[in-house]
Amino acid sequence: MQPLVFITGASSGIGQALALRYHQAGWRLALVARRAQAMHDWAQSQGLNADDYRVFAADVSDNASIIEAAEQCMASLGLPEVVIANAGISQGMDTAVRADLAVMQRVMATNVLGLAATFHPFIAPMQAQANEPDAPAFTLVGIASVAGIRGLPGHAAYCASKAAVISYCESLRGELRGHGRRKGVRVVTIAPGYVDTPLTRKNKYPMPFLMSSQAFAEKAFKAIAAGTPYRVIPWPMAIVAALLRLLPEAWLDRLLQNQPRKHRSPL
Ligand SMILES: NC(=O)c1ccc[n+]([C@@H]2O[C@H](COP(=O)([O-])OP(=O)(O)OC[C@H]3O[C@@H](n4cnc5c(N)ncnc54)[C@H](OP(=O)(O)O)[C@@H]3O)[C@@H](O)[C@H]2O)c1
Repeated sequence: MQPLVFITGASSGIGQALALRYHQAGWRLALVARRAQAMHDWAQSQGLNADDYRVFAADVSDNASIIEAAEQCMASLGLPEVVIANAGISQGMDTAVRADLAVMQRVMATNVLGLAATFHPFIAPMQAQANEPDAPAFTLVGIASVAGIRGLPGHAAYCASKAAVISYCESLRGELRGHGRRKGVRVVTIAPGYVDTPLTRKNKYPMPFLMSSQAFAEKAFKAIAAGTPYRVIPWPMAIVAALLRLLPEAWLDRLLQNQPRKHRSPL
């Protein structure tokens, strides 16, 4: 039986590119997002056969919805070797505007709580099977962002959500790690820089080291296969991220003081 990958946010951008990369490597695909038709259309446009993929319409910000999709996937296709919690939204906000609190709520519900809800149903079955003979290296993948390294003006909801993804995945990695001969479940955090997708096409500021979603998927596929705990893609952005992490607050404030803030995008 071909291995199976469960990918949320598979109706667009990075999720689609990852799905294509796994398909090219011979994996079966469990494609998850709210827009089921977009996933069917994409699969047909790529010439996928009915046995190659299955579409699950689900909203990751609704626990019942994403857990049901995961359970349907396990019942019909089996336990995935790799689960990629990729679904996410990016919206600018202004905390002084009351309506934007709803933006913050939605971003957190999708990017953070949705990621935990995506992993939840798979953890117990993965732990139960991890020590069977010939068990694969079960892997949970969180798609974070370089925006999670430091807080950027106007981007509070998104930056906070991606900082939470980085810390959350770090906690989970420690919790699910194997001990001695007991195999655990791997947790891989991928922090993309700028990737050309519908999400970034609306940005009104320069995007250094912008890469295609296909080039990103190639590097992410390899990092996931290797079980790399944390990877920033592309590598020049990894250097920027490492420097940003070290930058004292006063220097960061000075660096950002004349930069435009991210525009609001109300619900
Ligand atoms: N592009 C970049 O430069 C970049 C950089 C850093 C991090 N990222 C992260 O990479 C991930 C993918 O981004 P992208 O650039 O590919 O964005 P995108 O093209 O806008 O795709 C976002 C995907 O998330 C899905 N999604 C959004 N809300 C959802 C919900 N409530 N339930 C289920 N699915 C939902 C969307 O599907 P439906 O609308 O059909 O539900 C869509 O498939 C995100 O987590 C993003 O934060 C992207």
